[in-house]
Amino acid sequence: MQTIRIVAIAVALTLLPSIPAGRSARAASREPVRARSGIVASTHPLASQIGVEVLRKGGNAVDAAVAVGLALAVCYPVAGNIGGGGFMLIRFPDGRATAIDYREMAPAAASRDMYIGPDGNVVPRSSSVGYRAVGIPGTPAGFGLAVEKYGRWKWSRLVEPARRMAVDGFAVDFREQRNLDSEAGKLALFADSKRIFLRNGRPYREGEILRQPELAATLGRMQRLGWREFYEGATARRIAADMKANGGLITLADLASYRARERTPLRTKYRGCEILTMPPPSSGGIALIEMLHMLEQHDLEALGFGSSASLHLLAEVMRRAFADRAEYLGDADFVKVPVDVLISDEYARRRMKSFDRRRATPSAEVGPGDVRAGHESDQTTHFTVVDSDGLVVTNTYTLNLGYGSGVVAAGTGVLLNNEMDDFAAKPGTANEFNLIQKEANAVAAGKRPLSSMTPTIVLDREGNFWFALGSPGGPTIINTVLQVILNVIDHGMDIQAAVDAPRIHHQWFPDRLVCEPYGMTRDVKQALTGFGHTVFDRSEIADSWRPYIGDTHAVMIERGTRIRLGASDSRNGGMAIGY
Ligand code: GLY
Repeated sequence: MQTIRIVAIAVALTLLPSIPAGRSARAASREPVRARSGIVASTHPLASQIGVEVLRKGGNAVDAAVAVGLALAVCYPVAGNIGGGGFMLIRFPDGRATAIDYREMAPAAASRDMYIGPDGNVVPRSSSVGYRAVGIPGTPAGFGLAVEKYGRWKWSRLVEPARRMAVDGFAVDFREQRNLDSEAGKLALFADSKRIFLRNGRPYREGEILRQPELAATLGRMQRLGWREFYEGATARRIAADMKANGGLITLADLASYRARERTPLRTKYRGCEILTMPPPSSGGIALIEMLHMLEQHDLEALGFGSSASLHLLAEVMRRAFADRAEYLGDADFVKVPVDVLISDEYARRRMKSFDRRRATPSAEVGPGDVRAGHESDQTTHFTVVDSDGLVVTNTYTLNLGYGSGVVAAGTGVLLNNEMDDFAAKPGTANEFNLIQKEANAVAAGKRPLSSMTPTIVLDREGNFWFALGSPGGPTIINTVLQVILNVIDHGMDIQAAVDAPRIHHQWFPDRLVCEPYGMTRDVKQALTGFGHTVFDRSEIADSWRPYIGDTHAVMIERGTRIRLGASDSRNGGMAIGY
């Protein structure tokens, strides 16, 4: 009986396409960082260093992740935050997993048409700049919940490195200088933001020391009184008073009512490997799974990395998933999201019936699927941590656009998000990411705006943790995470090569296939154009200095040796550090 079962399993495994992990190829990129015990991969070396010190001194991956998140609020103010929100996915060594949703929430006074002007159109920038663009922040509650339930260290100890850095200051790097240059106009609109980030009216230069005493004082209060101070104490009172004085909607009662929520991660299998990812109010997990199921019907390895055939297939899959995102996805606490249908194999098969190997399907011909049967900104940030026990935390959080709404709440040093722009300000029209979204994601009091953030964990075929990843990039997040997973599972790249490899992006509308500079050869571009794609190099369309797609930070456990591997994206100066 036992022999029959073993033979049956062996036969079943040979029928699955092979995972080319044995030949894990390096490509022309760095070696992943290697470590015996733990790794922190984040977009800022100072934050990664703080995280790894927590691990070294006995904190677990949750503790380290929270210390990293708080540190990024100081040294990566373009996206790191306590005035924003995000998602944290945790997998425990015993196989259990949980997802913490600390997405921002619309205040009680928010309403469906709050951004529509007398002419019936969205008032330009009303949902993205200034006080009315701000959703109730979730980061302190999300981090607080994570530490209280799953951490080893006390909250106050985890706040200290960030508080210290805010007091002492840090040297602005070239990347922050560029970020400040590109958003200086927005920051100059608000008195505290101007004073803090524009030194005598001009953005900080590379090498100058940026100190943030008000932020240090806020962190100090939260350190002494606990994270709830942000929602109920002097910090809350200052935010609410500043909102009231400037036409914002967030009140003390809104702040006090905010709760982070634990959600059940979405799970699926792709080529025999289990994928754990984020459920609504992120669209990321559903769209990722839908795309993986559509791709599983094809032999991507045989089509070859970067070939016109595989990029055509990817673009068609992305187009279809984003059409569904626009129609069906929103906060599942408010609207019915057909999750089970959208992530089913059967639905993916139906969705690909219109796929033509040699012709792009115009987006105008791709509506949402039938579910009855069954400015450029990537200013979000991601970090991933694995500890010596194999506890994994993968976290994406954001202020939405660079430096969020541009508002630092008076007397707090806290930059506030502009996450209200992730709602459909006018259902059916595009937001700052050119993303079309519909009624499911209309504004409503107490609702969480739809996100694309996709923290994800991948297990190997034996069910062991293999790798974890995520990325910033608005809608490009989902396609970034997808392509890194395919690079590892289908194309056999090592984790650093998989992170660094060129990426593409398609989001249904605008109907264009976007590649990175030097990311696609001329003959592949010509072949794709011949299929009917409109191919754009992102350097031709990005309205900021950053023509890349995503900024991934991943960790992996090397099979066989159990060595921890870390990979930080070469695109944006991040660093994985291990010990
Ligand atoms: N603010 C970008 C996102 O959540 O998708």
